[in-house]
Order: sequence, then C-alpha cells, then structure tokens
Amino acid sequence: MKHLVAPSLLAADFTRLGEAVEFVNNSKADWLHIDVMDGSFVPNISYGFSVLDAIKPICRKPLDVHLMIVHPENYIERFRESGAFGITVHAEACAHLHSTIQEIRKSGAQAGVAINPSTPVMMLEDVLEDLDLVLVMSVNPGFGGQKFIYRSLHKIRQLKEMIIKRNLQVKIEVDGGIGLQNAEAILQAGADVLVAGSSIFKSDNPEEYIGRLKSIGVDTILV
Ligand code: DX5
Ligand code: ZN
Repeated sequence: MKHLVAPSLLAADFTRLGEAVEFVNNSKADWLHIDVMDGSFVPNISYGFSVLDAIKPICRKPLDVHLMIVHPENYIERFRESGAFGITVHAEACAHLHSTIQEIRKSGAQAGVAINPSTPVMMLEDVLEDLDLVLVMSVNPGFGGQKFIYRSLHKIRQLKEMIIKRNLQVKIEVDGGIGLQNAEAILQAGADVLVAGSSIFKSDNPEEYIGRLKSIGVDTILV
C-alpha cells in the first residue's frame, strides 16, 4: 500500500484555520491530523470539540484525531460526533485499554493506540488484533517542532515484524519531527502514515512539500 501523509493542524496559523483546512482539502494529503491535548496527560493544552465542530463541515479529508488526554474513554462518542474518522488514544493514559478500544470500534471510528517514546511495542502484544492503527510517537507528545528520536526507527521495525508475522492489516503511523530529511528512513522501517506539522506548514511551499512527502518511493520492507 502506498503510504499516507497527514498534516498536523497544530502547526497551522490559528488565525486562519479555515484557510488551512481548505489548503489540506486541495492538497495531496490523505488525512488531517488533529492533536487534542489536555494539560494533564501532556504539558500543553491545544484544542477540542469546538474547533473540531467548526472544521467538520468544511474538511473533505478524514479527521485523524490523536487524543493526548487522560480518561479518553469518557469522550469517544463525543469525538465521533465531532467528525473523527479515526480515534487514537494513548496506551499510557488507559487503565483498561482493551475496553477503550472496543468503545472506539463500537462508535464506528477506526481504532488507534499511540505509544510514547519510552513505551515498548510489547505493550501492544495483547491488543494488536483489535486495532486499525498504531501510532508510534517519535517525540515526547505535547509540542510540535521537536527533534525526531531516532530510536523510533527500531520500534517501527519491531512493530512491523509483529504485524506481518500475525498477518494483520494494522497501519503504523509515526508522529513527531518528520520531514523530507528523515521520511524515507521512516517509511523504509515500515511506516504507513506520516504525520508532519512544522515541516509542512513552515515550509516555503507547503503544497509542494506534501507532494514531495507523498512521492517518496520505498523498496519492499525487509523484516
Ligand atoms: C505532538 C503531536 C504531533 C505534532 C507534530 O505531540 O502529536 O502531531 O503536531 O508536529 P511536528 O511535525 O512539528 O513535530
Ligand atoms: Zn499527533
């Protein structure tokens, strides 16, 4: 499968969110990545339902909602109503991860689980079969514009191996510090979806930048 690109709205100009969504609509991007932060699970607060409700009617790309919040299980239905196509919760934030995944599934959204840089992929051993997506954080969550943690490549490879061995269709999304300088290595390691915020929105030509991320060709993955 050809890889997907998901620009992160967090790096857009917040005084012109409508224009940013329209730009993504007309670009080669596949999804729009929405980072929800609560100031508790992560040391930053971003945006929530009101922004999603405003975006929902104008966004033509699937909304990929990344919840960096405690007790995400309390808000699954609400995020679905706000237009989420996929809902990703953090393994570290869920005391009952298996049941939260079932809740996401029941809502009709694609189910994703994110893991922080310090969380081993083995954490997913017993839930992998129930997932549509695993999000490997390649920075510590909370802020855009951070440096990619290269150890993540090893985790992506491990995860890809687990997925292939079990013959699953789970996508690997990678998030944080991604740009043209490292995208090929990340895809080579086994990523299916690249999230990119600053590298796209701060580039001189964001449209062309997305096109370049999309057109990276990768040889067969070696496991
Ligand atoms: C970080 C967020 C990321 C962030 C990526 O906590 O989950 O999605 O927006 O931004 P860049 O691409 O700037 O690292
Ligand atoms: Zn994110």
